[in-house]
Amino acid sequence: LNVKKVHRTGFHFQPPKHWINDPNGPMVYKGIYHLFYQYNPKGAVWGNIVWAHSVSRDLVNWKTLEPAIYPSKPFDIRGCWSGSATILPDGRPVILYTGLDKDAVQMQNYAIPSDMNDPYLRRWSKPDDNPLIYPSKDVNASAFRDPSTAWFSGGHWKTVIGSRHHHRGIVYMYRSKDFKHWNRVKHPFHTVPNTGNFECPDFFPVLKAGQNGIDTSAVGENVRHVLKVSLDETRYEYYTIGTYNPDKDKYVPDGSLEDGWGGLRLDYGNFYASKTFYDSGKGRRILWGWANESDSQANDTTKGWAGVQVRTWKSYDFFSQVDDAFLSYCRRCTFCQTIPRTMWLDSGGKQLVHWPVQEIETLRGNKVELQNVELKRGEHVEVKGITAAQADVEVVFAFSDLSRAEHFDPRWGPAHRICAQKSANSPGGLGPFGLMTLATVDFHEYTPVFFRIFKADNNKHIILLCSDARNSSHAGDLYKPAFGGFVNVDISHGKLSLRTLIDNSVVESFGAGGRTCITSRVYPEKATYDNARLFAFNHGSSPITVEKLSAWSMKNADRNIGGTI
Ligand code: FRU
Repeated sequence: LNVKKVHRTGFHFQPPKHWINDPNGPMVYKGIYHLFYQYNPKGAVWGNIVWAHSVSRDLVNWKTLEPAIYPSKPFDIRGCWSGSATILPDGRPVILYTGLDKDAVQMQNYAIPSDMNDPYLRRWSKPDDNPLIYPSKDVNASAFRDPSTAWFSGGHWKTVIGSRHHHRGIVYMYRSKDFKHWNRVKHPFHTVPNTGNFECPDFFPVLKAGQNGIDTSAVGENVRHVLKVSLDETRYEYYTIGTYNPDKDKYVPDGSLEDGWGGLRLDYGNFYASKTFYDSGKGRRILWGWANESDSQANDTTKGWAGVQVRTWKSYDFFSQVDDAFLSYCRRCTFCQTIPRTMWLDSGGKQLVHWPVQEIETLRGNKVELQNVELKRGEHVEVKGITAAQADVEVVFAFSDLSRAEHFDPRWGPAHRICAQKSANSPGGLGPFGLMTLATVDFHEYTPVFFRIFKADNNKHIILLCSDARNSSHAGDLYKPAFGGFVNVDISHGKLSLRTLIDNSVVESFGAGGRTCITSRVYPEKATYDNARLFAFNHGSSPITVEKLSAWSMKNADRNIGGTI
């Protein structure tokens, strides 16, 4: 395969080769983290899907094991699709996943470890009483998938499954007393018109206060609940925060939140099919997401896989097997998972916040710092002395004059559209300021991550975070979107922070302490390895101070096959 080595990630989770998609069944068992993921063992496009399996002690360094679940039985012979792990009260893990039978009917199965004494849980068996949940007549059997981690309340196990009816997204809930016999709860657990299919629903509690996580079965006064769905049609996700009544099995999203395409997003960039799990050892909830490379727009605006007849997500036949001739054309082959993130409810209770797991800092090498560097309009400063193609950067920008913020016009539309219209180089009042990542020294290629601050008619400030891939690469046949999200943070103290993890073809950014996150996949031709540079810049008329910038070279994570961890 024509794999572009320069675009392989150094510390983002990635298998040695071939196609991956959703993270599946993340869990911790006896101190070892398990990550399964949708994987094509035969090639670099979607197809032949199995549950690949890797284990780790720190969520950073991984060992690749043999696939844990692969088509072998009538109930999963055409694919082992996404699902989740549940740790039973006696400590044993059980996996719920979607299997496709010979007619591509989607059903929910379970798998259990074959040998509980194997610390890596390498082998999984699929008992004969599968499938557990077969789609009833009134359920769309070709959109009935991705069971969540089950939780236990009111004497029942409960899981949610994604689906649709025509263009209406549906999350069904199933209940079981024994984890074997499952019945659908009459009313859909959640349903929204005009969203298209709901994939990979995730439903979990978050504590009202603090950054700790809590077990998926927790209910009560001190928790709120979160429902996240992935939207098949747009290849992005949204979530709501709300109230869960475990007796009536009703979830009511907070009325102030948008419940649909314009809803809150965990990440405003290349991020899909995410899943959380409760890390009981460290008392935190961890989020994994797939840093996908294409979406519906990609199919429209690019040739999909370079040099190939377009056969990407939308046009690719889900059910046909992949032929090798087609595979050999793959060029990018750099699918990865985002850095696992610790996630909690923001103190205002209106959104989630996430931050790369602390363990990722063990890969930090050489460090450089800038302090109190003033950047006037049009100025930039290079951050020298680190491997800018593979780095971790934390920066605090300070500004004193909020009066220069430009007027905000609500007709401008969603955040990403404003980012596309007002680029990093279009001068503003307060901003754009931020980082130029993966930049060549002559700025022919660069991926800017930057803020712009506006003032609305009601005198409130509106903060925009952009991650713009449009100038990221000379290659013309790529999907290079401008991503953007608004940042809900108080700036009256005149500061904004940004952390960006740069990893050759990933630019993963956390604005304002992780309130707004954007992951961009980029494929520079020139800004690679030592030719990649990093700058802080300001293109607003108001001067900005880089109050403090710390940047580290990032070492490679160990992601080898075999051995021990
Ligand atoms: C999401 C998804 C899931 C499905 C899996 C198949 O990316 O389409 O709904 O289970 O991928 O690989």
